[in-house]
Amino acid sequence: MSRLDSFIRRLSAQRDILNQAAADLGDVPGLVLEFGLGGGRTYDHLRHLFPDRRVVVFESVPLDNPLVQVPRGDLILGDIRATAAGFPAGSAALIHADIETGVAETDAALANWLPELVSRLLTPGGFAASGAPLVASGLVAAEITPSVEAGRYHLVRRTEA
Ligand SMILES: C[S@@+](CC[C@H](N)C(=O)[O-])C[C@H]1O[C@@H](n2cnc3c(N)ncnc32)[C@H](O)[C@@H]1O
Repeated sequence: MSRLDSFIRRLSAQRDILNQAAADLGDVPGLVLEFGLGGGRTYDHLRHLFPDRRVVVFESVPLDNPLVQVPRGDLILGDIRATAAGFPAGSAALIHADIETGVAETDAALANWLPELVSRLLTPGGFAASGAPLVASGLVAAEITPSVEAGRYHLVRRTEA
């Protein structure tokens, strides 16, 4: 598969899974957290999916892009490992992490901190979606829409504390 094909499939899986999580979340309270602003396309999609929730986005290297408008206070600058750690446990209803690089070694290292952080921030019943596997205590794999090939993208739900 070409990198272009792989990119298209990843983004289409990302969109389908976020749409599914938004539909399944119901009235579970909490913030929407986007890990990795990048070009802001997914952030924009989340704003459309969750017009009544605060969407907070985390980024270490923000681009100067006039198309990306984040309300004051909702763009948190710095390394997610430090900045998101400052948010209260159980404050998030949905977390989306799009911070893989495509470099196997770098992406494998996400397992050392991302799943634990996600598990701490999610409220019971909340969802997290990521290209990287999210394996930690308190997180269970959620069934994924059939439009997404197995293993392409990951969706987990927070169990009761
Ligand atoms: C693949 S891009 C995100 C693309 C985004 N979904 C979009 O719609 O354009 C990943 C982004 O995550 C940021 N990032 C990766 N690891 C990070 C970390 N530990 N802390 C903060 N930002 C990080 C990178 O700087 C990059 O902008």
